[in-house]
Amino acid sequence: MRAAVVGTGVMGSAVCLRLLRAGYQVSVYNRTPGKAAELGAAGAKVAATAAEAIDGADAVVVALLDAGAFRATLLGPEVAPALAGRRVASVTAATPDDMRALAAAVRAHGGTFVEVSVAGTPEMVEQGKAQAFVAGEPADLAPWSEPLRACFARVHDVGALGNASEVENACILGALFTVVGAVYTLRALEGRGVPQQAVAALWENDPFHANGVGMYVLGRVGARSYDAPAATVATIAATCEMSAAYLASLRLPVEPFEAVRGVFSRAVERGFADKDFSAVYEVISPGEA
Ligand SMILES: NC(=O)c1ccc[n+]([C@@H]2O[C@H](COP(=O)([O-])OP(=O)(O)OC[C@H]3O[C@@H](n4cnc5c(N)ncnc54)[C@H](OP(=O)(O)O)[C@@H]3O)[C@@H](O)[C@H]2O)c1
Repeated sequence: MRAAVVGTGVMGSAVCLRLLRAGYQVSVYNRTPGKAAELGAAGAKVAATAAEAIDGADAVVVALLDAGAFRATLLGPEVAPALAGRRVASVTAATPDDMRALAAAVRAHGGTFVEVSVAGTPEMVEQGKAQAFVAGEPADLAPWSEPLRACFARVHDVGALGNASEVENACILGALFTVVGAVYTLRALEGRGVPQQAVAALWENDPFHANGVGMYVLGRVGARSYDAPAATVATIAATCEMSAAYLASLRLPVEPFEAVRGVFSRAVERGFADKDFSAVYEVISPGEA
């Protein structure tokens, strides 16, 4: 079976490696070709254009930054005709409204579209330990059962197109607050000279305090290592744009979220765009206020 992966950032690369390991022939395309070179060495065919990558593929996984990057890469006049007859699965996060609009555009060009919300880090995807929430028409989802099984430990079908994005958007919103909350906890302890590791027992074991993302941030902060990102600050900053639009669509108050978004914007301004998102720790310091 032939697969294509469009967008070989950290998530697209992990999906590609998983598919290669499962025996798929995989073509990849990335706007910045150098970032796909390692996948070429791992056995993928690196295409010069998105149209070339998806040509003849049985399964097209799109792992681009956001809905805008999806439109720019696949829906322009040079590439869109190549969508005819293609089965597209979007791993790209988007608001439910954007996801439905992308689906309509792919269908208008003769392709099918399902959404795949990945629950887990790229490392978990590479190891086959991540979960996925999928949505779309049953007939469009059916041919995806094999490639999805190759990539994910568990696949949850949540029904109509848009529902997987609802799960993803709602969970991301909470996670963004949680990351910033965890950083404040760690900085508060640091400001008082108390070992940060003291919170690990609470975050790991106490249901009132359980905080998986806090443990992740603590691990990165402890090692002071923000390279080899699971998700970059820049990606999370783009995610914040999506979350702001999602909040507006729900007519939930946006002011508390604007403070969270400001923390990620500040990290971009201070040069951490390409680092792991836990680098926001570096831009919230005791003594700054
Ligand atoms: N990382 C995670 O843990 C995770 C988990 C769940 C879901 N996701 C979702 O998966 C998607 C990809 O995330 P990621 O972490 O892999 O991000 P990433 O490493 O930043 O990769 C982003 C990809 O989008 C491309 N891109 C960005 N802007 C573009 C544009 N304007 N036109 C064309 N291509 C563009 C990049 O190409 P260049 O290399 O040329 O910049 C790259 O291929 C996102 O929607 C994210 O929310 C990620």
